Amino acid sequence: MASLGVEDAKRLAAYTAIDTHFPTNAKVVGVGSGSTVVYCVERIVQKKAKGEIPADTIYIPTGFQSKELIIQGGLNLGAIDGYPVLDVAFDGADEVDPDLNCIKGGGACLFQEKLVAQCAKKFIVVADFRKDSTNLGLKWIQGVPIEVVPLAHAKVRQDLLEMGAITATLRLGGKAKAGAVITDNCNVIIDAHFGPIADPAKLAEQIKMLVGVVEVGLFINMADAAYFGNENGSVTAK
Ligand code: 5RP
Repeated sequence: MASLGVEDAKRLAAYTAIDTHFPTNAKVVGVGSGSTVVYCVERIVQKKAKGEIPADTIYIPTGFQSKELIIQGGLNLGAIDGYPVLDVAFDGADEVDPDLNCIKGGGACLFQEKLVAQCAKKFIVVADFRKDSTNLGLKWIQGVPIEVVPLAHAKVRQDLLEMGAITATLRLGGKAKAGAVITDNCNVIIDAHFGPIADPAKLAEQIKMLVGVVEVGLFINMADAAYFGNENGSVTAK
């Protein structure tokens, strides 16, 4: 029996999702962020070269990384403010529960990811086996990523702790981890760890209400399907 590494498992999920959900007449398609989506673009480029998908499809990025992927792949680049209706969007996730609710934002792109996902008629998640979870907060223990206006970070961290977060940490980046990670929208990220999340929808609503919060990395009732590549070479489709 095959024993795939994580990268091969990601590729398997991404290829399966593209082969299953990329419309043959696609006009506008969203491209998410992260390492798994790289394989979605790889598959799209292959299919375009073979003439299996339209050459004039427009691709909408969810941040700097996916914009570069689209350009490097020779695909047509659009922007969400010019194309607010998408046929489908493909994106990775940090954790996915049985209802397809997701934690996203491990790569700090959650605001644009949510915007693009919400504009898409179908939102398809691609991931490896490590992300397939029975309850959000069990596997992605770094915490729920939350995009926050910089001036409000101390106040929002305090609010989150008062709401029951075990930790609420400003995400630091760079070689020396000396400065805050700055998102593509010039905001910061707070990672708030709540342990296993009993009611993800309620938590998402509560966090979103805090002044200073731009968006929450809890994607509730947004995904239409999720594909997980497994070590044994199979794909779990949900
Ligand atoms: C970025 C994201 C990513 O989609 C998520 O972190 C998954 O990334 P990867 O495919 O590298 O595991 O939400 O903000």
